Amino acid sequence: MIAIGSDHGGFHLKAEVMKYLDEKGIAYKDYGTYSEESCDYPIYGEKVARAVASGECEKGIVICGTGIGISISANKIKGIRAALCSDCFSAEMTRRHNDANILAMGERVLGVGLALKIVETFLNTPFDGGRHARRVALISELEK
Ligand code: RB5
Repeated sequence: MIAIGSDHGGFHLKAEVMKYLDEKGIAYKDYGTYSEESCDYPIYGEKVARAVASGECEKGIVICGTGIGISISANKIKGIRAALCSDCFSAEMTRRHNDANILAMGERVLGVGLALKIVETFLNTPFDGGRHARRVALISELEK
């Protein structure tokens, strides 16, 4: 199960991502926002982050205008490694090396075609483990 959320700045790209997930038969839960009305991105970053941190959802996708505010917010929740990606190489490497559990994107930064390729890359790339597991564990240590 994928948790997905955005503020108003990411509302339209969230709809495109949900359409993509529907087409691929990938289950997701939409944590809002549910309209174009102006709202506060930390609320949605937190909702998605808590769904992932609790284990209710395996991974998350958060979107705002730039992807920055909502990724900063999601990263405040213990256990979350949210990666802001604007290219497929970063999306691949943050899964392989950082075991990122949330993908953040900016609707005002990316075209839909690239954004969907980034989503596909993020969801289909496994963690490499090995020496990277030690580094990810050190990130977790920082939360103590
Ligand atoms: C909303 O206008 C905008 O500030 C927000 O979507 C995001 O870009 C913040 O980082």
